[in-house]
Amino acid sequence: MPELLHDASAARAALEYISARLRTEPPVAAIILGSGLGGLASRLTDATRVPFAEIPGFPRATVAGHAGVLIAGRLAGRPVLALAGRFHMYEGHAAALAAFPTRVLHALGARTLIVSNAAGGIGRSLTPGDLMLIRDHVNFMFRNPLLGPNGADEPRFPDMSAPYDARLGEIAREVARANGIALAEGVYCGLLGPTYETPAEVRMLAFMGADAVGMSTVPEVIVARALGMRVLGVSCVTNMACGLATQPITHAEVIETTAHAAADFERLITGVVERL
Ligand code: HPA
Repeated sequence: MPELLHDASAARAALEYISARLRTEPPVAAIILGSGLGGLASRLTDATRVPFAEIPGFPRATVAGHAGVLIAGRLAGRPVLALAGRFHMYEGHAAALAAFPTRVLHALGARTLIVSNAAGGIGRSLTPGDLMLIRDHVNFMFRNPLLGPNGADEPRFPDMSAPYDARLGEIAREVARANGIALAEGVYCGLLGPTYETPAEVRMLAFMGADAVGMSTVPEVIVARALGMRVLGVSCVTNMACGLATQPITHAEVIETTAHAAADFERLITGVVERL
């Protein structure tokens, strides 16, 4: 059997399935909720849900803290789509699959993507619990979701000179200021995982200019940019990256810290959506 391609035509098949089940109003934004940040989903009103496992082309989410559901609803009264859960390359998925939900969100009409993640802090000014506006990223996954034939409407060599939208970043800063939310800024570096980094790797990442490190987001942002979506990225710093802290890193710690930062994260994203 030929391998399923997670391309534009697969996204159209998912669109058909989903639009028969969800209220389809053009969303002002689609939001990908990172590890431990799924609580925003409970703020959605008029919510209708489709489990990932039902969506053509979606495998089951496997990581604790990732519910695996696509939600259509309203946030601050504005129509949004939210993905609680995502697919990671460390689960064994190809980059194109990790980015496939982004294609589906685009097919459902989303032109603004808000991505979030849990990340290890590298920048000395970051502490666990901080939110960081992603200004730029480094693709250290050594995989690209656009490998292979490009879709008819997609550039062969997408520009990545401004992966994160300047205006959306400005809105996020305004919302943070107005609500007394501390919002750091920096460069996110995406690694394959599933191991956390060694101290030597963290020193290298710091030297390269990374402020935070995680195992997601980069494939989704690449596909979003190839499709012309504007992107806002927010990391929740859950721990200091290895070698910068005295304790080993655990997934439980990552989830626990996001629980503390979740209230600020939810207020930030709600405020941004309100202004779109
Ligand atoms: N490294 C990579 N990914 C992560 C980390 C980390 O320290 N914390 C949360 N996600």
